[in-house]
Amino acid sequence: MIYMLDTANLEAIKKAVDLYPIVGVTTNPTIIAKENRPLRDIILDIRELIGSERMLHAQVVADTAEVMLEEAKALRKLDPEIIVKVPVTPQGIKAMKLISAEGIRITATAILTPQQALMAAMAGAEFLAPYVNRLDNICGDGTQVAAEMAHLIDMYNLDAKVLAASFKNVQQVHEVAKAGVQSVTIAPDVFDQLLVHPLTDSGVAGFMSDWHNAYGDGKTVLDLL
Ligand code: E4P
Repeated sequence: MIYMLDTANLEAIKKAVDLYPIVGVTTNPTIIAKENRPLRDIILDIRELIGSERMLHAQVVADTAEVMLEEAKALRKLDPEIIVKVPVTPQGIKAMKLISAEGIRITATAILTPQQALMAAMAGAEFLAPYVNRLDNICGDGTQVAAEMAHLIDMYNLDAKVLAASFKNVQQVHEVAKAGVQSVTIAPDVFDQLLVHPLTDSGVAGFMSDWHNAYGDGKTVLDLL
């Protein structure tokens, strides 16, 4: 599983990069706007935090393919490794053809149907981001859409990966993982929840208590070897 963090918050990124096997950070215009800072600073600061080996995804916002292409080039100028997110509108699909021809990596975003994903992959998108919770919220089936996308990628032998997105709980992440998606991007609060279990906490507390009763408070394995 390829894990990414869906945020532009530096504290959250710092914490997650330290603790978890995160290989990328994704943003969208709403996530960027929340930070209320210049876009340039946000991108440069995230890059500094995550290093050159992790992925950073940032979205274009223009409504024509030509201007999206210019936005993509400007983002690449700022961060040569950036992966540009493009929505799966008709202009977005046109932009994907233009942007991929420039050798810029693309994540197709705002995907709600497998057919949008298939066309985005054919237009040059490397990652395909279905919005799982937004589908579940309208009585759709986000997992099913993500699973069908993964199936289409296999069936047509496409050079693309599902990047399942828009999660509001751990069960949604679990369902897409079981469905075989290659990657997920998760907001920090849900990411933290992936590890939470009260029996894990009580189990670890029991180990610590038995250990310290036998060997003394604060003793680690290092003290005893
Ligand atoms: C992914 O591309 C989006 O940035 C994001 O996951 C959307 O999540 P939301 O539905 O919680 O806004």
